[in-house]
Parts: sequence; C-alpha cells; structure tokens
Amino acid sequence: MRSSSFCTKSTSDSTAMDLSGMRKKYKGDEECFEENQLVSLDPIKQFGDWFDQATKCPEIGEPNAMCIATSTKEGRPSARMVLLKGYSNEGFRFFTNYESRKGGELESNPYACLCFYWEPINRQIRIEGNVERIPYQSSCDYFHSRPKSSQIGAIVSRQSTAVPDRNYLRQKNAALEEKYKDTDVPMPDYWGGYIIKPYMIEFWQGQTNRLHDRIVFTRPKNEESVLEEHQHHAEAGWVYQRLSP
Ligand SMILES: Cc1cc2nc3c(=O)[nH]c(=O)nc-3n(C[C@H](O)[C@H](O)[C@H](O)COP(=O)(O)O)c2cc1C
Repeated sequence: MRSSSFCTKSTSDSTAMDLSGMRKKYKGDEECFEENQLVSLDPIKQFGDWFDQATKCPEIGEPNAMCIATSTKEGRPSARMVLLKGYSNEGFRFFTNYESRKGGELESNPYACLCFYWEPINRQIRIEGNVERIPYQSSCDYFHSRPKSSQIGAIVSRQSTAVPDRNYLRQKNAALEEKYKDTDVPMPDYWGGYIIKPYMIEFWQGQTNRLHDRIVFTRPKNEESVLEEHQHHAEAGWVYQRLSP
C-alpha cells in the first residue's frame, strides 16, 4: 500500500523524490513458505512449481520475463530483461544476439545471474550459474519457429550498436522483408541461445512482517563434501539451507 504522504513531502531539492513511504503488504505469517512446503528437494522441480503458479496468475503478463545480470571481466556489472525460453535439469535457456553487450560480456566472463520477480504472488527466484552457447542446430530450430517478422528483426538489429535514427531501421526492415518475401530467412551467425547451468537457486517469498522466507539451494563442487551448519541434503547433488531475510 502506498503511503499517502508519498510525493507530497517537501525536500530542499525539487528534483528529489522521497520514496521512503512506498511499501506494499505482502503475505501474512500464516502463508509463510516453510521447508515442508517444498514440492521437491530438486530445485529445478521446485522452480517448475513456482513457475507454473506464476503462469496461472492472470495479473502476471510475462511470467518468463527475467532480469539477467552479466559482468565484464573487470567486474563491471550490467543487467537487462530477457525471456526464458526453456528450462530443464541442464539449465535455463534464452536467445539473443551474441554480439550484443551481454553477448560480449558472456564471451569474456561466462557467468550470469537471473532474477525473476512475480509481484502479485510476492515471489522472487534468483539463479546463478555458468553460461554456455547452446548447440547451433537448437538455435536454428528455435529461430525458424519464430514469426517471420521476428526473424527479420533479428537481422535488422545489430543489437547494442548505434544507429543514425529509427528510419534507418525502418528502411532496413522493409528492404529485408522484400528480400525474403518468398524464401526462408537464414539465421545470422551472430544470433543464438545461451544456457545458464545453475549452481545456486534461491526461492524468496515476501512476508508482511518482513520475516521473508529465503530457501537457497547450492550445488557443492564435490558431492562428498561435508554439510555446513544448517545445511541439509537435497536431491540431484544439491544441498539447501534457510537464509536470514
Ligand atoms: C520483457 C522484455 C523481454 C526481453 N526479451 C529479450 C530477449 O529474450 N532477448 C534479447 O536479446 N533481448 C530481450 N529484451 C531486450 C533487452 O532487455 C535488451 O534491451 C537487449 O537485449 C540489449 O541488451 P544489451 O545491450 O545489454 O546486450 C527484452 C526486453 C524486455 C523488457
């Protein structure tokens, strides 16, 4: 619920917006997320359960929209939204331009963090993992399953490079639509998919009393390694623990 004083507070700087009163009511303590509510101790299956619930929530327009953070080799981060296009025990897939900013960062520093936030159900999932390009043929199959206009769009846009104006893109689009009017659009070699192979998945559920629930699964490098304090065995080589909110 927004505080009624939001936006009306006077500050000495007229460009400063005071957002300190902006807070929303989350779930009550009786709706908390306890370990015995995990549908599976395999975090991919648990992800599937929350994802399915998000897809059934009519207020969530794009449940597969996720923020992906990448970083340069020097450690300068950048983040943007992309669409999750598939997940399995292997990892989480999305498609992009390999020569984009994110593509460049992933080539030199192949690690990423994904973050889903489904506001109406007060849930966040964070995923960290190492990143690989998916096989060329899998990218091709997906590329050609998209509407022709999207295939052409992928060629028009040398993503993340500067262009003179919108008209430049409009004209390039029209020329390519004409060129490929009667033929298949070839997938450009700078376009394709990545898979994020997770080593950390955190399930967060917001609680009104701010005792938010955080259950985090990690995959120890050595499956034989000894559990840390408060850590428990999970499935498929994972362990889990509860974190303080
Ligand atoms: C909801 C949403 C979904 C998006 N999905 C994708 C996507 O799947 N792939 C993609 O390359 N860009 C997608 N974008 C655009 C990216 O956010 C971003 O502008 C673009 O990929 C260039 O990012 P970069 O310069 O950091 O590489 C999406 C944007 C939004 C808001």
